[in-house]
Amino acid sequence: MNKTINIDKLTPHIGAEITGIDLSKPLEPEQVKLIESALMENQVVFFRDQEMTLAEQVRLGGYFGKLYTHPAAQAATTANKEPGKTAPIRYVSGVEGYPEIIKIYADANSEQVAGEVWHADVTSETEPPMGSILRITQIPPLGGDTLFASMYAAFEALSKDMQRFLCSLTAIHDGIKVYGGRNAYDSTRQYPRNEHPVVRTHPVTGRQALYVSTTFTTKIVQLSQSESDALLAFLFRHLELPMFQCRFRWRNNSMAFWDNRCVQHQAQWDYFPHTRIGYRVQITGDRPFHKSS
Ligand code: SIN
Repeated sequence: MNKTINIDKLTPHIGAEITGIDLSKPLEPEQVKLIESALMENQVVFFRDQEMTLAEQVRLGGYFGKLYTHPAAQAATTANKEPGKTAPIRYVSGVEGYPEIIKIYADANSEQVAGEVWHADVTSETEPPMGSILRITQIPPLGGDTLFASMYAAFEALSKDMQRFLCSLTAIHDGIKVYGGRNAYDSTRQYPRNEHPVVRTHPVTGRQALYVSTTFTTKIVQLSQSESDALLAFLFRHLELPMFQCRFRWRNNSMAFWDNRCVQHQAQWDYFPHTRIGYRVQITGDRPFHKSS
């Protein structure tokens, strides 16, 4: 018999914990609908005690759309196949046999960790992944929480005049900012770079969300460099205000499913030199657009 499923909100703006569902088992269509609708309402949903295999995590992601292969996972997997070459251990890597999964890893030798700076995932893509499902399998003794911020709340807190102005703008999101330089898996590789609206209309809810991030956004197209720098600096500070956020404290086998179209997140690396390990799948998305409301 199915257990009762409960959805408990964490804050007024963002985040809910769902209990009473075992995500390692095949899901019924009503369970998928319930999770989707909780995600639309709360933007990020959390689950506890979800022990599962990587194949089960891939199956879970598949209920919500086609899975997306992350450029870092792809590059690491390709490097591992070349004779005599192994991809360097980095804060994210591919997992042999599971191209859809990225492994997130930090330990006493780490120089950086995944997602330390506010972002939505891979917004440098033409069609960035709509959602990501992360399961942490090894937590540090303390710390390693993740913050999630509602980009609806960040947009709605701005004055009407600022909202109108931002709705007329587009910005460049450049993968080189993250995946190039010392993080490069392959220095000859072209990383995605795309222009997206500064305010994105969510294709399901129709709500407007601020869509620039410290990690990926380099320039507002319609403004001069100094105007763009000033406006982006203001927006990056604004979207980090704690009142738009919830904070998730992981336990082993906790899982978070966030909607990259209206949420940014930031991982807290306050647990060095301890180890933290997780596995993430991403679901493909559509091209961001802005539609006046
Ligand atoms: C990420 O997905 O950016 C990392 C999140 C985390 O490790 O908590």
